[in-house]
Amino acid sequence: MFSKKMQEALNDQIHHEMESAYIYLAMAAYFAEENYPGFTHWMKMQFDEEMIHAFKFYDYIHSRGAKVVLQAITQPPAEFDSPLSAFETALGHEQKISADIHNLYALALEEKDYPSLSFLQWFIDEQVEEEEHVGGVVEDIKRVSGSDQGLLMLDRELGQRLPPSPEEE
Ligand SMILES: [Fe+2]
Ligand SMILES: [Fe+2]
Repeated sequence: MFSKKMQEALNDQIHHEMESAYIYLAMAAYFAEENYPGFTHWMKMQFDEEMIHAFKFYDYIHSRGAKVVLQAITQPPAEFDSPLSAFETALGHEQKISADIHNLYALALEEKDYPSLSFLQWFIDEQVEEEEHVGGVVEDIKRVSGSDQGLLMLDRELGQRLPPSPEEE
């Protein structure tokens, strides 16, 4: 059964994923202004990925015959203190999203909503990857400890990120 409570919680997650996308777009704009084309590119790819996540929830709600209700998106920050601060904010955000997904999974378990459990499994695995990727960048930036040369090297490296693969969709 697809309870009203589950439907509402999944609708909330569309909002969380769209908000993630918006935060990453704000970070892309920050990096563009700071002349880091690679970080900008990486953040735009992250934006694309979050939009794919939002659509997965959107499509899933429809596939269960329920109604999608969209919510207002909060204005994201326009400024960050440093590249490290932006990526640390991103990591904190991903950890919050992981907790959201775990709460959804717990609710689906409680309600014996097996289709939702199956659907959410992909997101549990995805969040492990997300935290690993973003956390890895945080560690790399710490390692170069703000040196211009190190940041330039990382900017080049992150500029190579490929668009989300078809199996993401
Ligand atoms: Fe996401
Ligand atoms: Fe994410």
